[in-house]
Amino acid sequence: MAQYAAMRSIGAYVPKKILSNTDLEKMVDTTDEWIVKRTGIKERHIAAEHESTSDMGAKAASLAIERSGIAKEDIDLVLCATVTPDYFNMPSTACIISKKLDITNVQAFDISAACSGFVYLLSIAKAFIESGMKKNVLIIGAEKFSSIVDYTDRGTCILFGDGAGAAVISATSDKKEAIVDIHASADGTYADFLVTPAPGSVHPANQKMLDKKLNFVQMKGNETFKLAVKTLTQDVIEILHTNNLQASDIPHFIPHQANYRIIKAVGDALGMKDEQVVLTVQKYGNTSAASIPMAINDIYESGRLKKGDLMLLDTFGGGLTWASALLPFAGASK
Ligand code: ACO
Repeated sequence: MAQYAAMRSIGAYVPKKILSNTDLEKMVDTTDEWIVKRTGIKERHIAAEHESTSDMGAKAASLAIERSGIAKEDIDLVLCATVTPDYFNMPSTACIISKKLDITNVQAFDISAACSGFVYLLSIAKAFIESGMKKNVLIIGAEKFSSIVDYTDRGTCILFGDGAGAAVISATSDKKEAIVDIHASADGTYADFLVTPAPGSVHPANQKMLDKKLNFVQMKGNETFKLAVKTLTQDVIEILHTNNLQASDIPHFIPHQANYRIIKAVGDALGMKDEQVVLTVQKYGNTSAASIPMAINDIYESGRLKKGDLMLLDTFGGGLTWASALLPFAGASK
């Protein structure tokens, strides 16, 4: 019998501390008005000093496992998407999360696809399950982005926040529950649009690299903005066309939460109504690989996401990478 992959559950973790635009006004030359107008962001959450990416990932994952009704002993693959791993780059954050959840002796690894990480993981989980190699895959997008943000750079520090989201993807023979389609792609031509230059083999850790602040994220904001709108829109047009669907068929359009203006431009270009578009950027900022699962969790917790509802995920990020996914929510409604 054919084996399909289904999203059984969602979970998220948001750190307590809030960094508001008013707080940022005291740190860099900016204003609440400028930030809200250009990005839609009002506040973002920041992890405590002692709180690591794996701490947040483990909390989100624990909730996703609990909500899935699947015993943690039955998880056979743990995947984490992050560009802010606990360690550079060994051991993987997925291994540390597995240990924190007491899920040992399973395959576990990280991927790096920036903000597209969660949808990339969805495609990997789908492939592992459909090939029959795995049955229950735990996927996690977790970021302590504040650890690579330069809080003297007003062009980047206003955008990013910390958090984590997770889902359990399980084998099913019921096609109605199955992930319908995933398109994922990348183009390294634009690698310099979003980069954390060091430490790495190009700039190994040393005093010079720290003096030049190469350990912080650097971004060509305007160029990224334009490409994001184009890519996100094109991605949706393609996946809807491939699957003979219209934008109006989608109850939950869940785009990467980078900037309200990007989301609005994409939503308008696609003819989406406001109530179809999920928005969390105003309260979480851009949480990179955690952004999409945190947004799914938001509509799950508010009771908006029901079992069987179709979701359209759409994301882009450093690399550049981009991806879209069409899937029903196959977990129980809240
Ligand atoms: N406060 C006040 N003024 C600012 C700030 C700030 N925080 N930041 C920049 N400015 C100024 C600039 O210095 C510039 O001034 P100038 O005209 O005197 O030179 C002016 O505002 C306009 O700057 P732009 O960069 O052109 O502003 P823009 O409208 O493009 O907004 C922003 C900047 C918000 C960064 C936008 O470009 C953006 O959101 N880009 C996309 C970023 C993104 O999505 N990145 C994440 C990708 S996902 C991932 O993988 C992590």
